[in-house]
Amino acid sequence: MSTFKALRIHQVEKATQARLETLTLDDLGPGNVVVRVQWSGINYKDALAVTGKGRIMKGFPKVAGIDLAGIVERSDDARYKAGDKVLVTGCNIGEILDGGFSEVARVPADILVPLPQGLTLRESMAIGTAGFTAALALRRMLENHQSPSMGPIAVTGPTGGVGSIAIDLFKRVGFTVHAITGKAGVADDYLKALGADEVVSRQSLELGKKPLESALWGGAVDNLGGETLAWLTRTTRPWGNIASIGLAQSHELNTTVMPFILRGVSLLGIHSVECPRPWREDLWQHLSTIWKPKHFDRLVAREVTLEQLPAVCEEFTAGKIQGRTLVRIGTH
Ligand SMILES: NC(=O)c1ccc[n+]([C@@H]2O[C@H](COP(=O)([O-])OP(=O)(O)OC[C@H]3O[C@@H](n4cnc5c(N)ncnc54)[C@H](OP(=O)(O)O)[C@@H]3O)[C@@H](O)[C@H]2O)c1
Repeated sequence: MSTFKALRIHQVEKATQARLETLTLDDLGPGNVVVRVQWSGINYKDALAVTGKGRIMKGFPKVAGIDLAGIVERSDDARYKAGDKVLVTGCNIGEILDGGFSEVARVPADILVPLPQGLTLRESMAIGTAGFTAALALRRMLENHQSPSMGPIAVTGPTGGVGSIAIDLFKRVGFTVHAITGKAGVADDYLKALGADEVVSRQSLELGKKPLESALWGGAVDNLGGETLAWLTRTTRPWGNIASIGLAQSHELNTTVMPFILRGVSLLGIHSVECPRPWREDLWQHLSTIWKPKHFDRLVAREVTLEQLPAVCEEFTAGKIQGRTLVRIGTH
């Protein structure tokens, strides 16, 4: 394919413009493997990059998309050959490197993961950075001795990509899961169908102000930050873990040391982009076997094309999204 379509982000007089362009390989950054992209997915970060509502891109112009899955077309690296199925999540694509919203990607071999047996390319992107991050949170919490007997896991932002897969995963390994959502009307058809035991309205929460409030949660997976994360620190039971993943509500955190020194609560940082390679391989192995999501049909809300991406990304930043949105790119 000498020319191909890609969604490239430009900066013109400090304003972001997303343009569907026809490119050649010479337009892409360096890399020793060329991949014919079949699928990508939309993450919150992609929406910020495409709409320009967040400072995601380091340099312009740059192809957006922090995830991709496809088939190797050409490789100068002995680990890969033409026809191999591969995926990338994070690793700075769609930020510092050109990303996955493109019919063709050129990437360094070191960031590729061979598609694990047990997953299709489409399933791997239904998981994407969102599911990989939920799995990283589960791994870190288990390593820090989280167990179902400690009580329910609170998942915030549960209708989003990370939250939805977190419900599926935590339930799958035996935890009770309570979904704390800002949306009305998603309890039975969506959140409980994914495995949530209880659905709590975020608007109904009594946040309180004391350094320690009644202890409710065995642990938590937090996608929001801000006052919700602060409240989780005050309401997590002794020795519980809170995985801090996102900032959909705010990047700020105002709390005290009391939960940490009087209840032994741990706040675990989750950083999927530069996750160490051995963890990355191990997590994909788990996600393709014993942690493979059970509810792909429900998790995948829709498929969109490269042409539809700019409009769909606007919906993401307005918090209107439910589940995962796949980007269908290749010929299937
Ligand atoms: N640390 C990492 O490595 C990593 C990796 C992936 C994502 N993230 C971050 O994790 C967060 C979730 O990512 P995602 O891909 O799941 O995003 P998403 O699909 O857009 O979902 C975010 C969810 O958060 C809730 N929400 C959205 N805007 C909100 C607001 N203003 N106030 C309160 N709640 C709001 C909504 O859930 P409800 O309506 O159900 O409440 C929404 O569905 C984002 O902040 C993202 O940047 C971090």
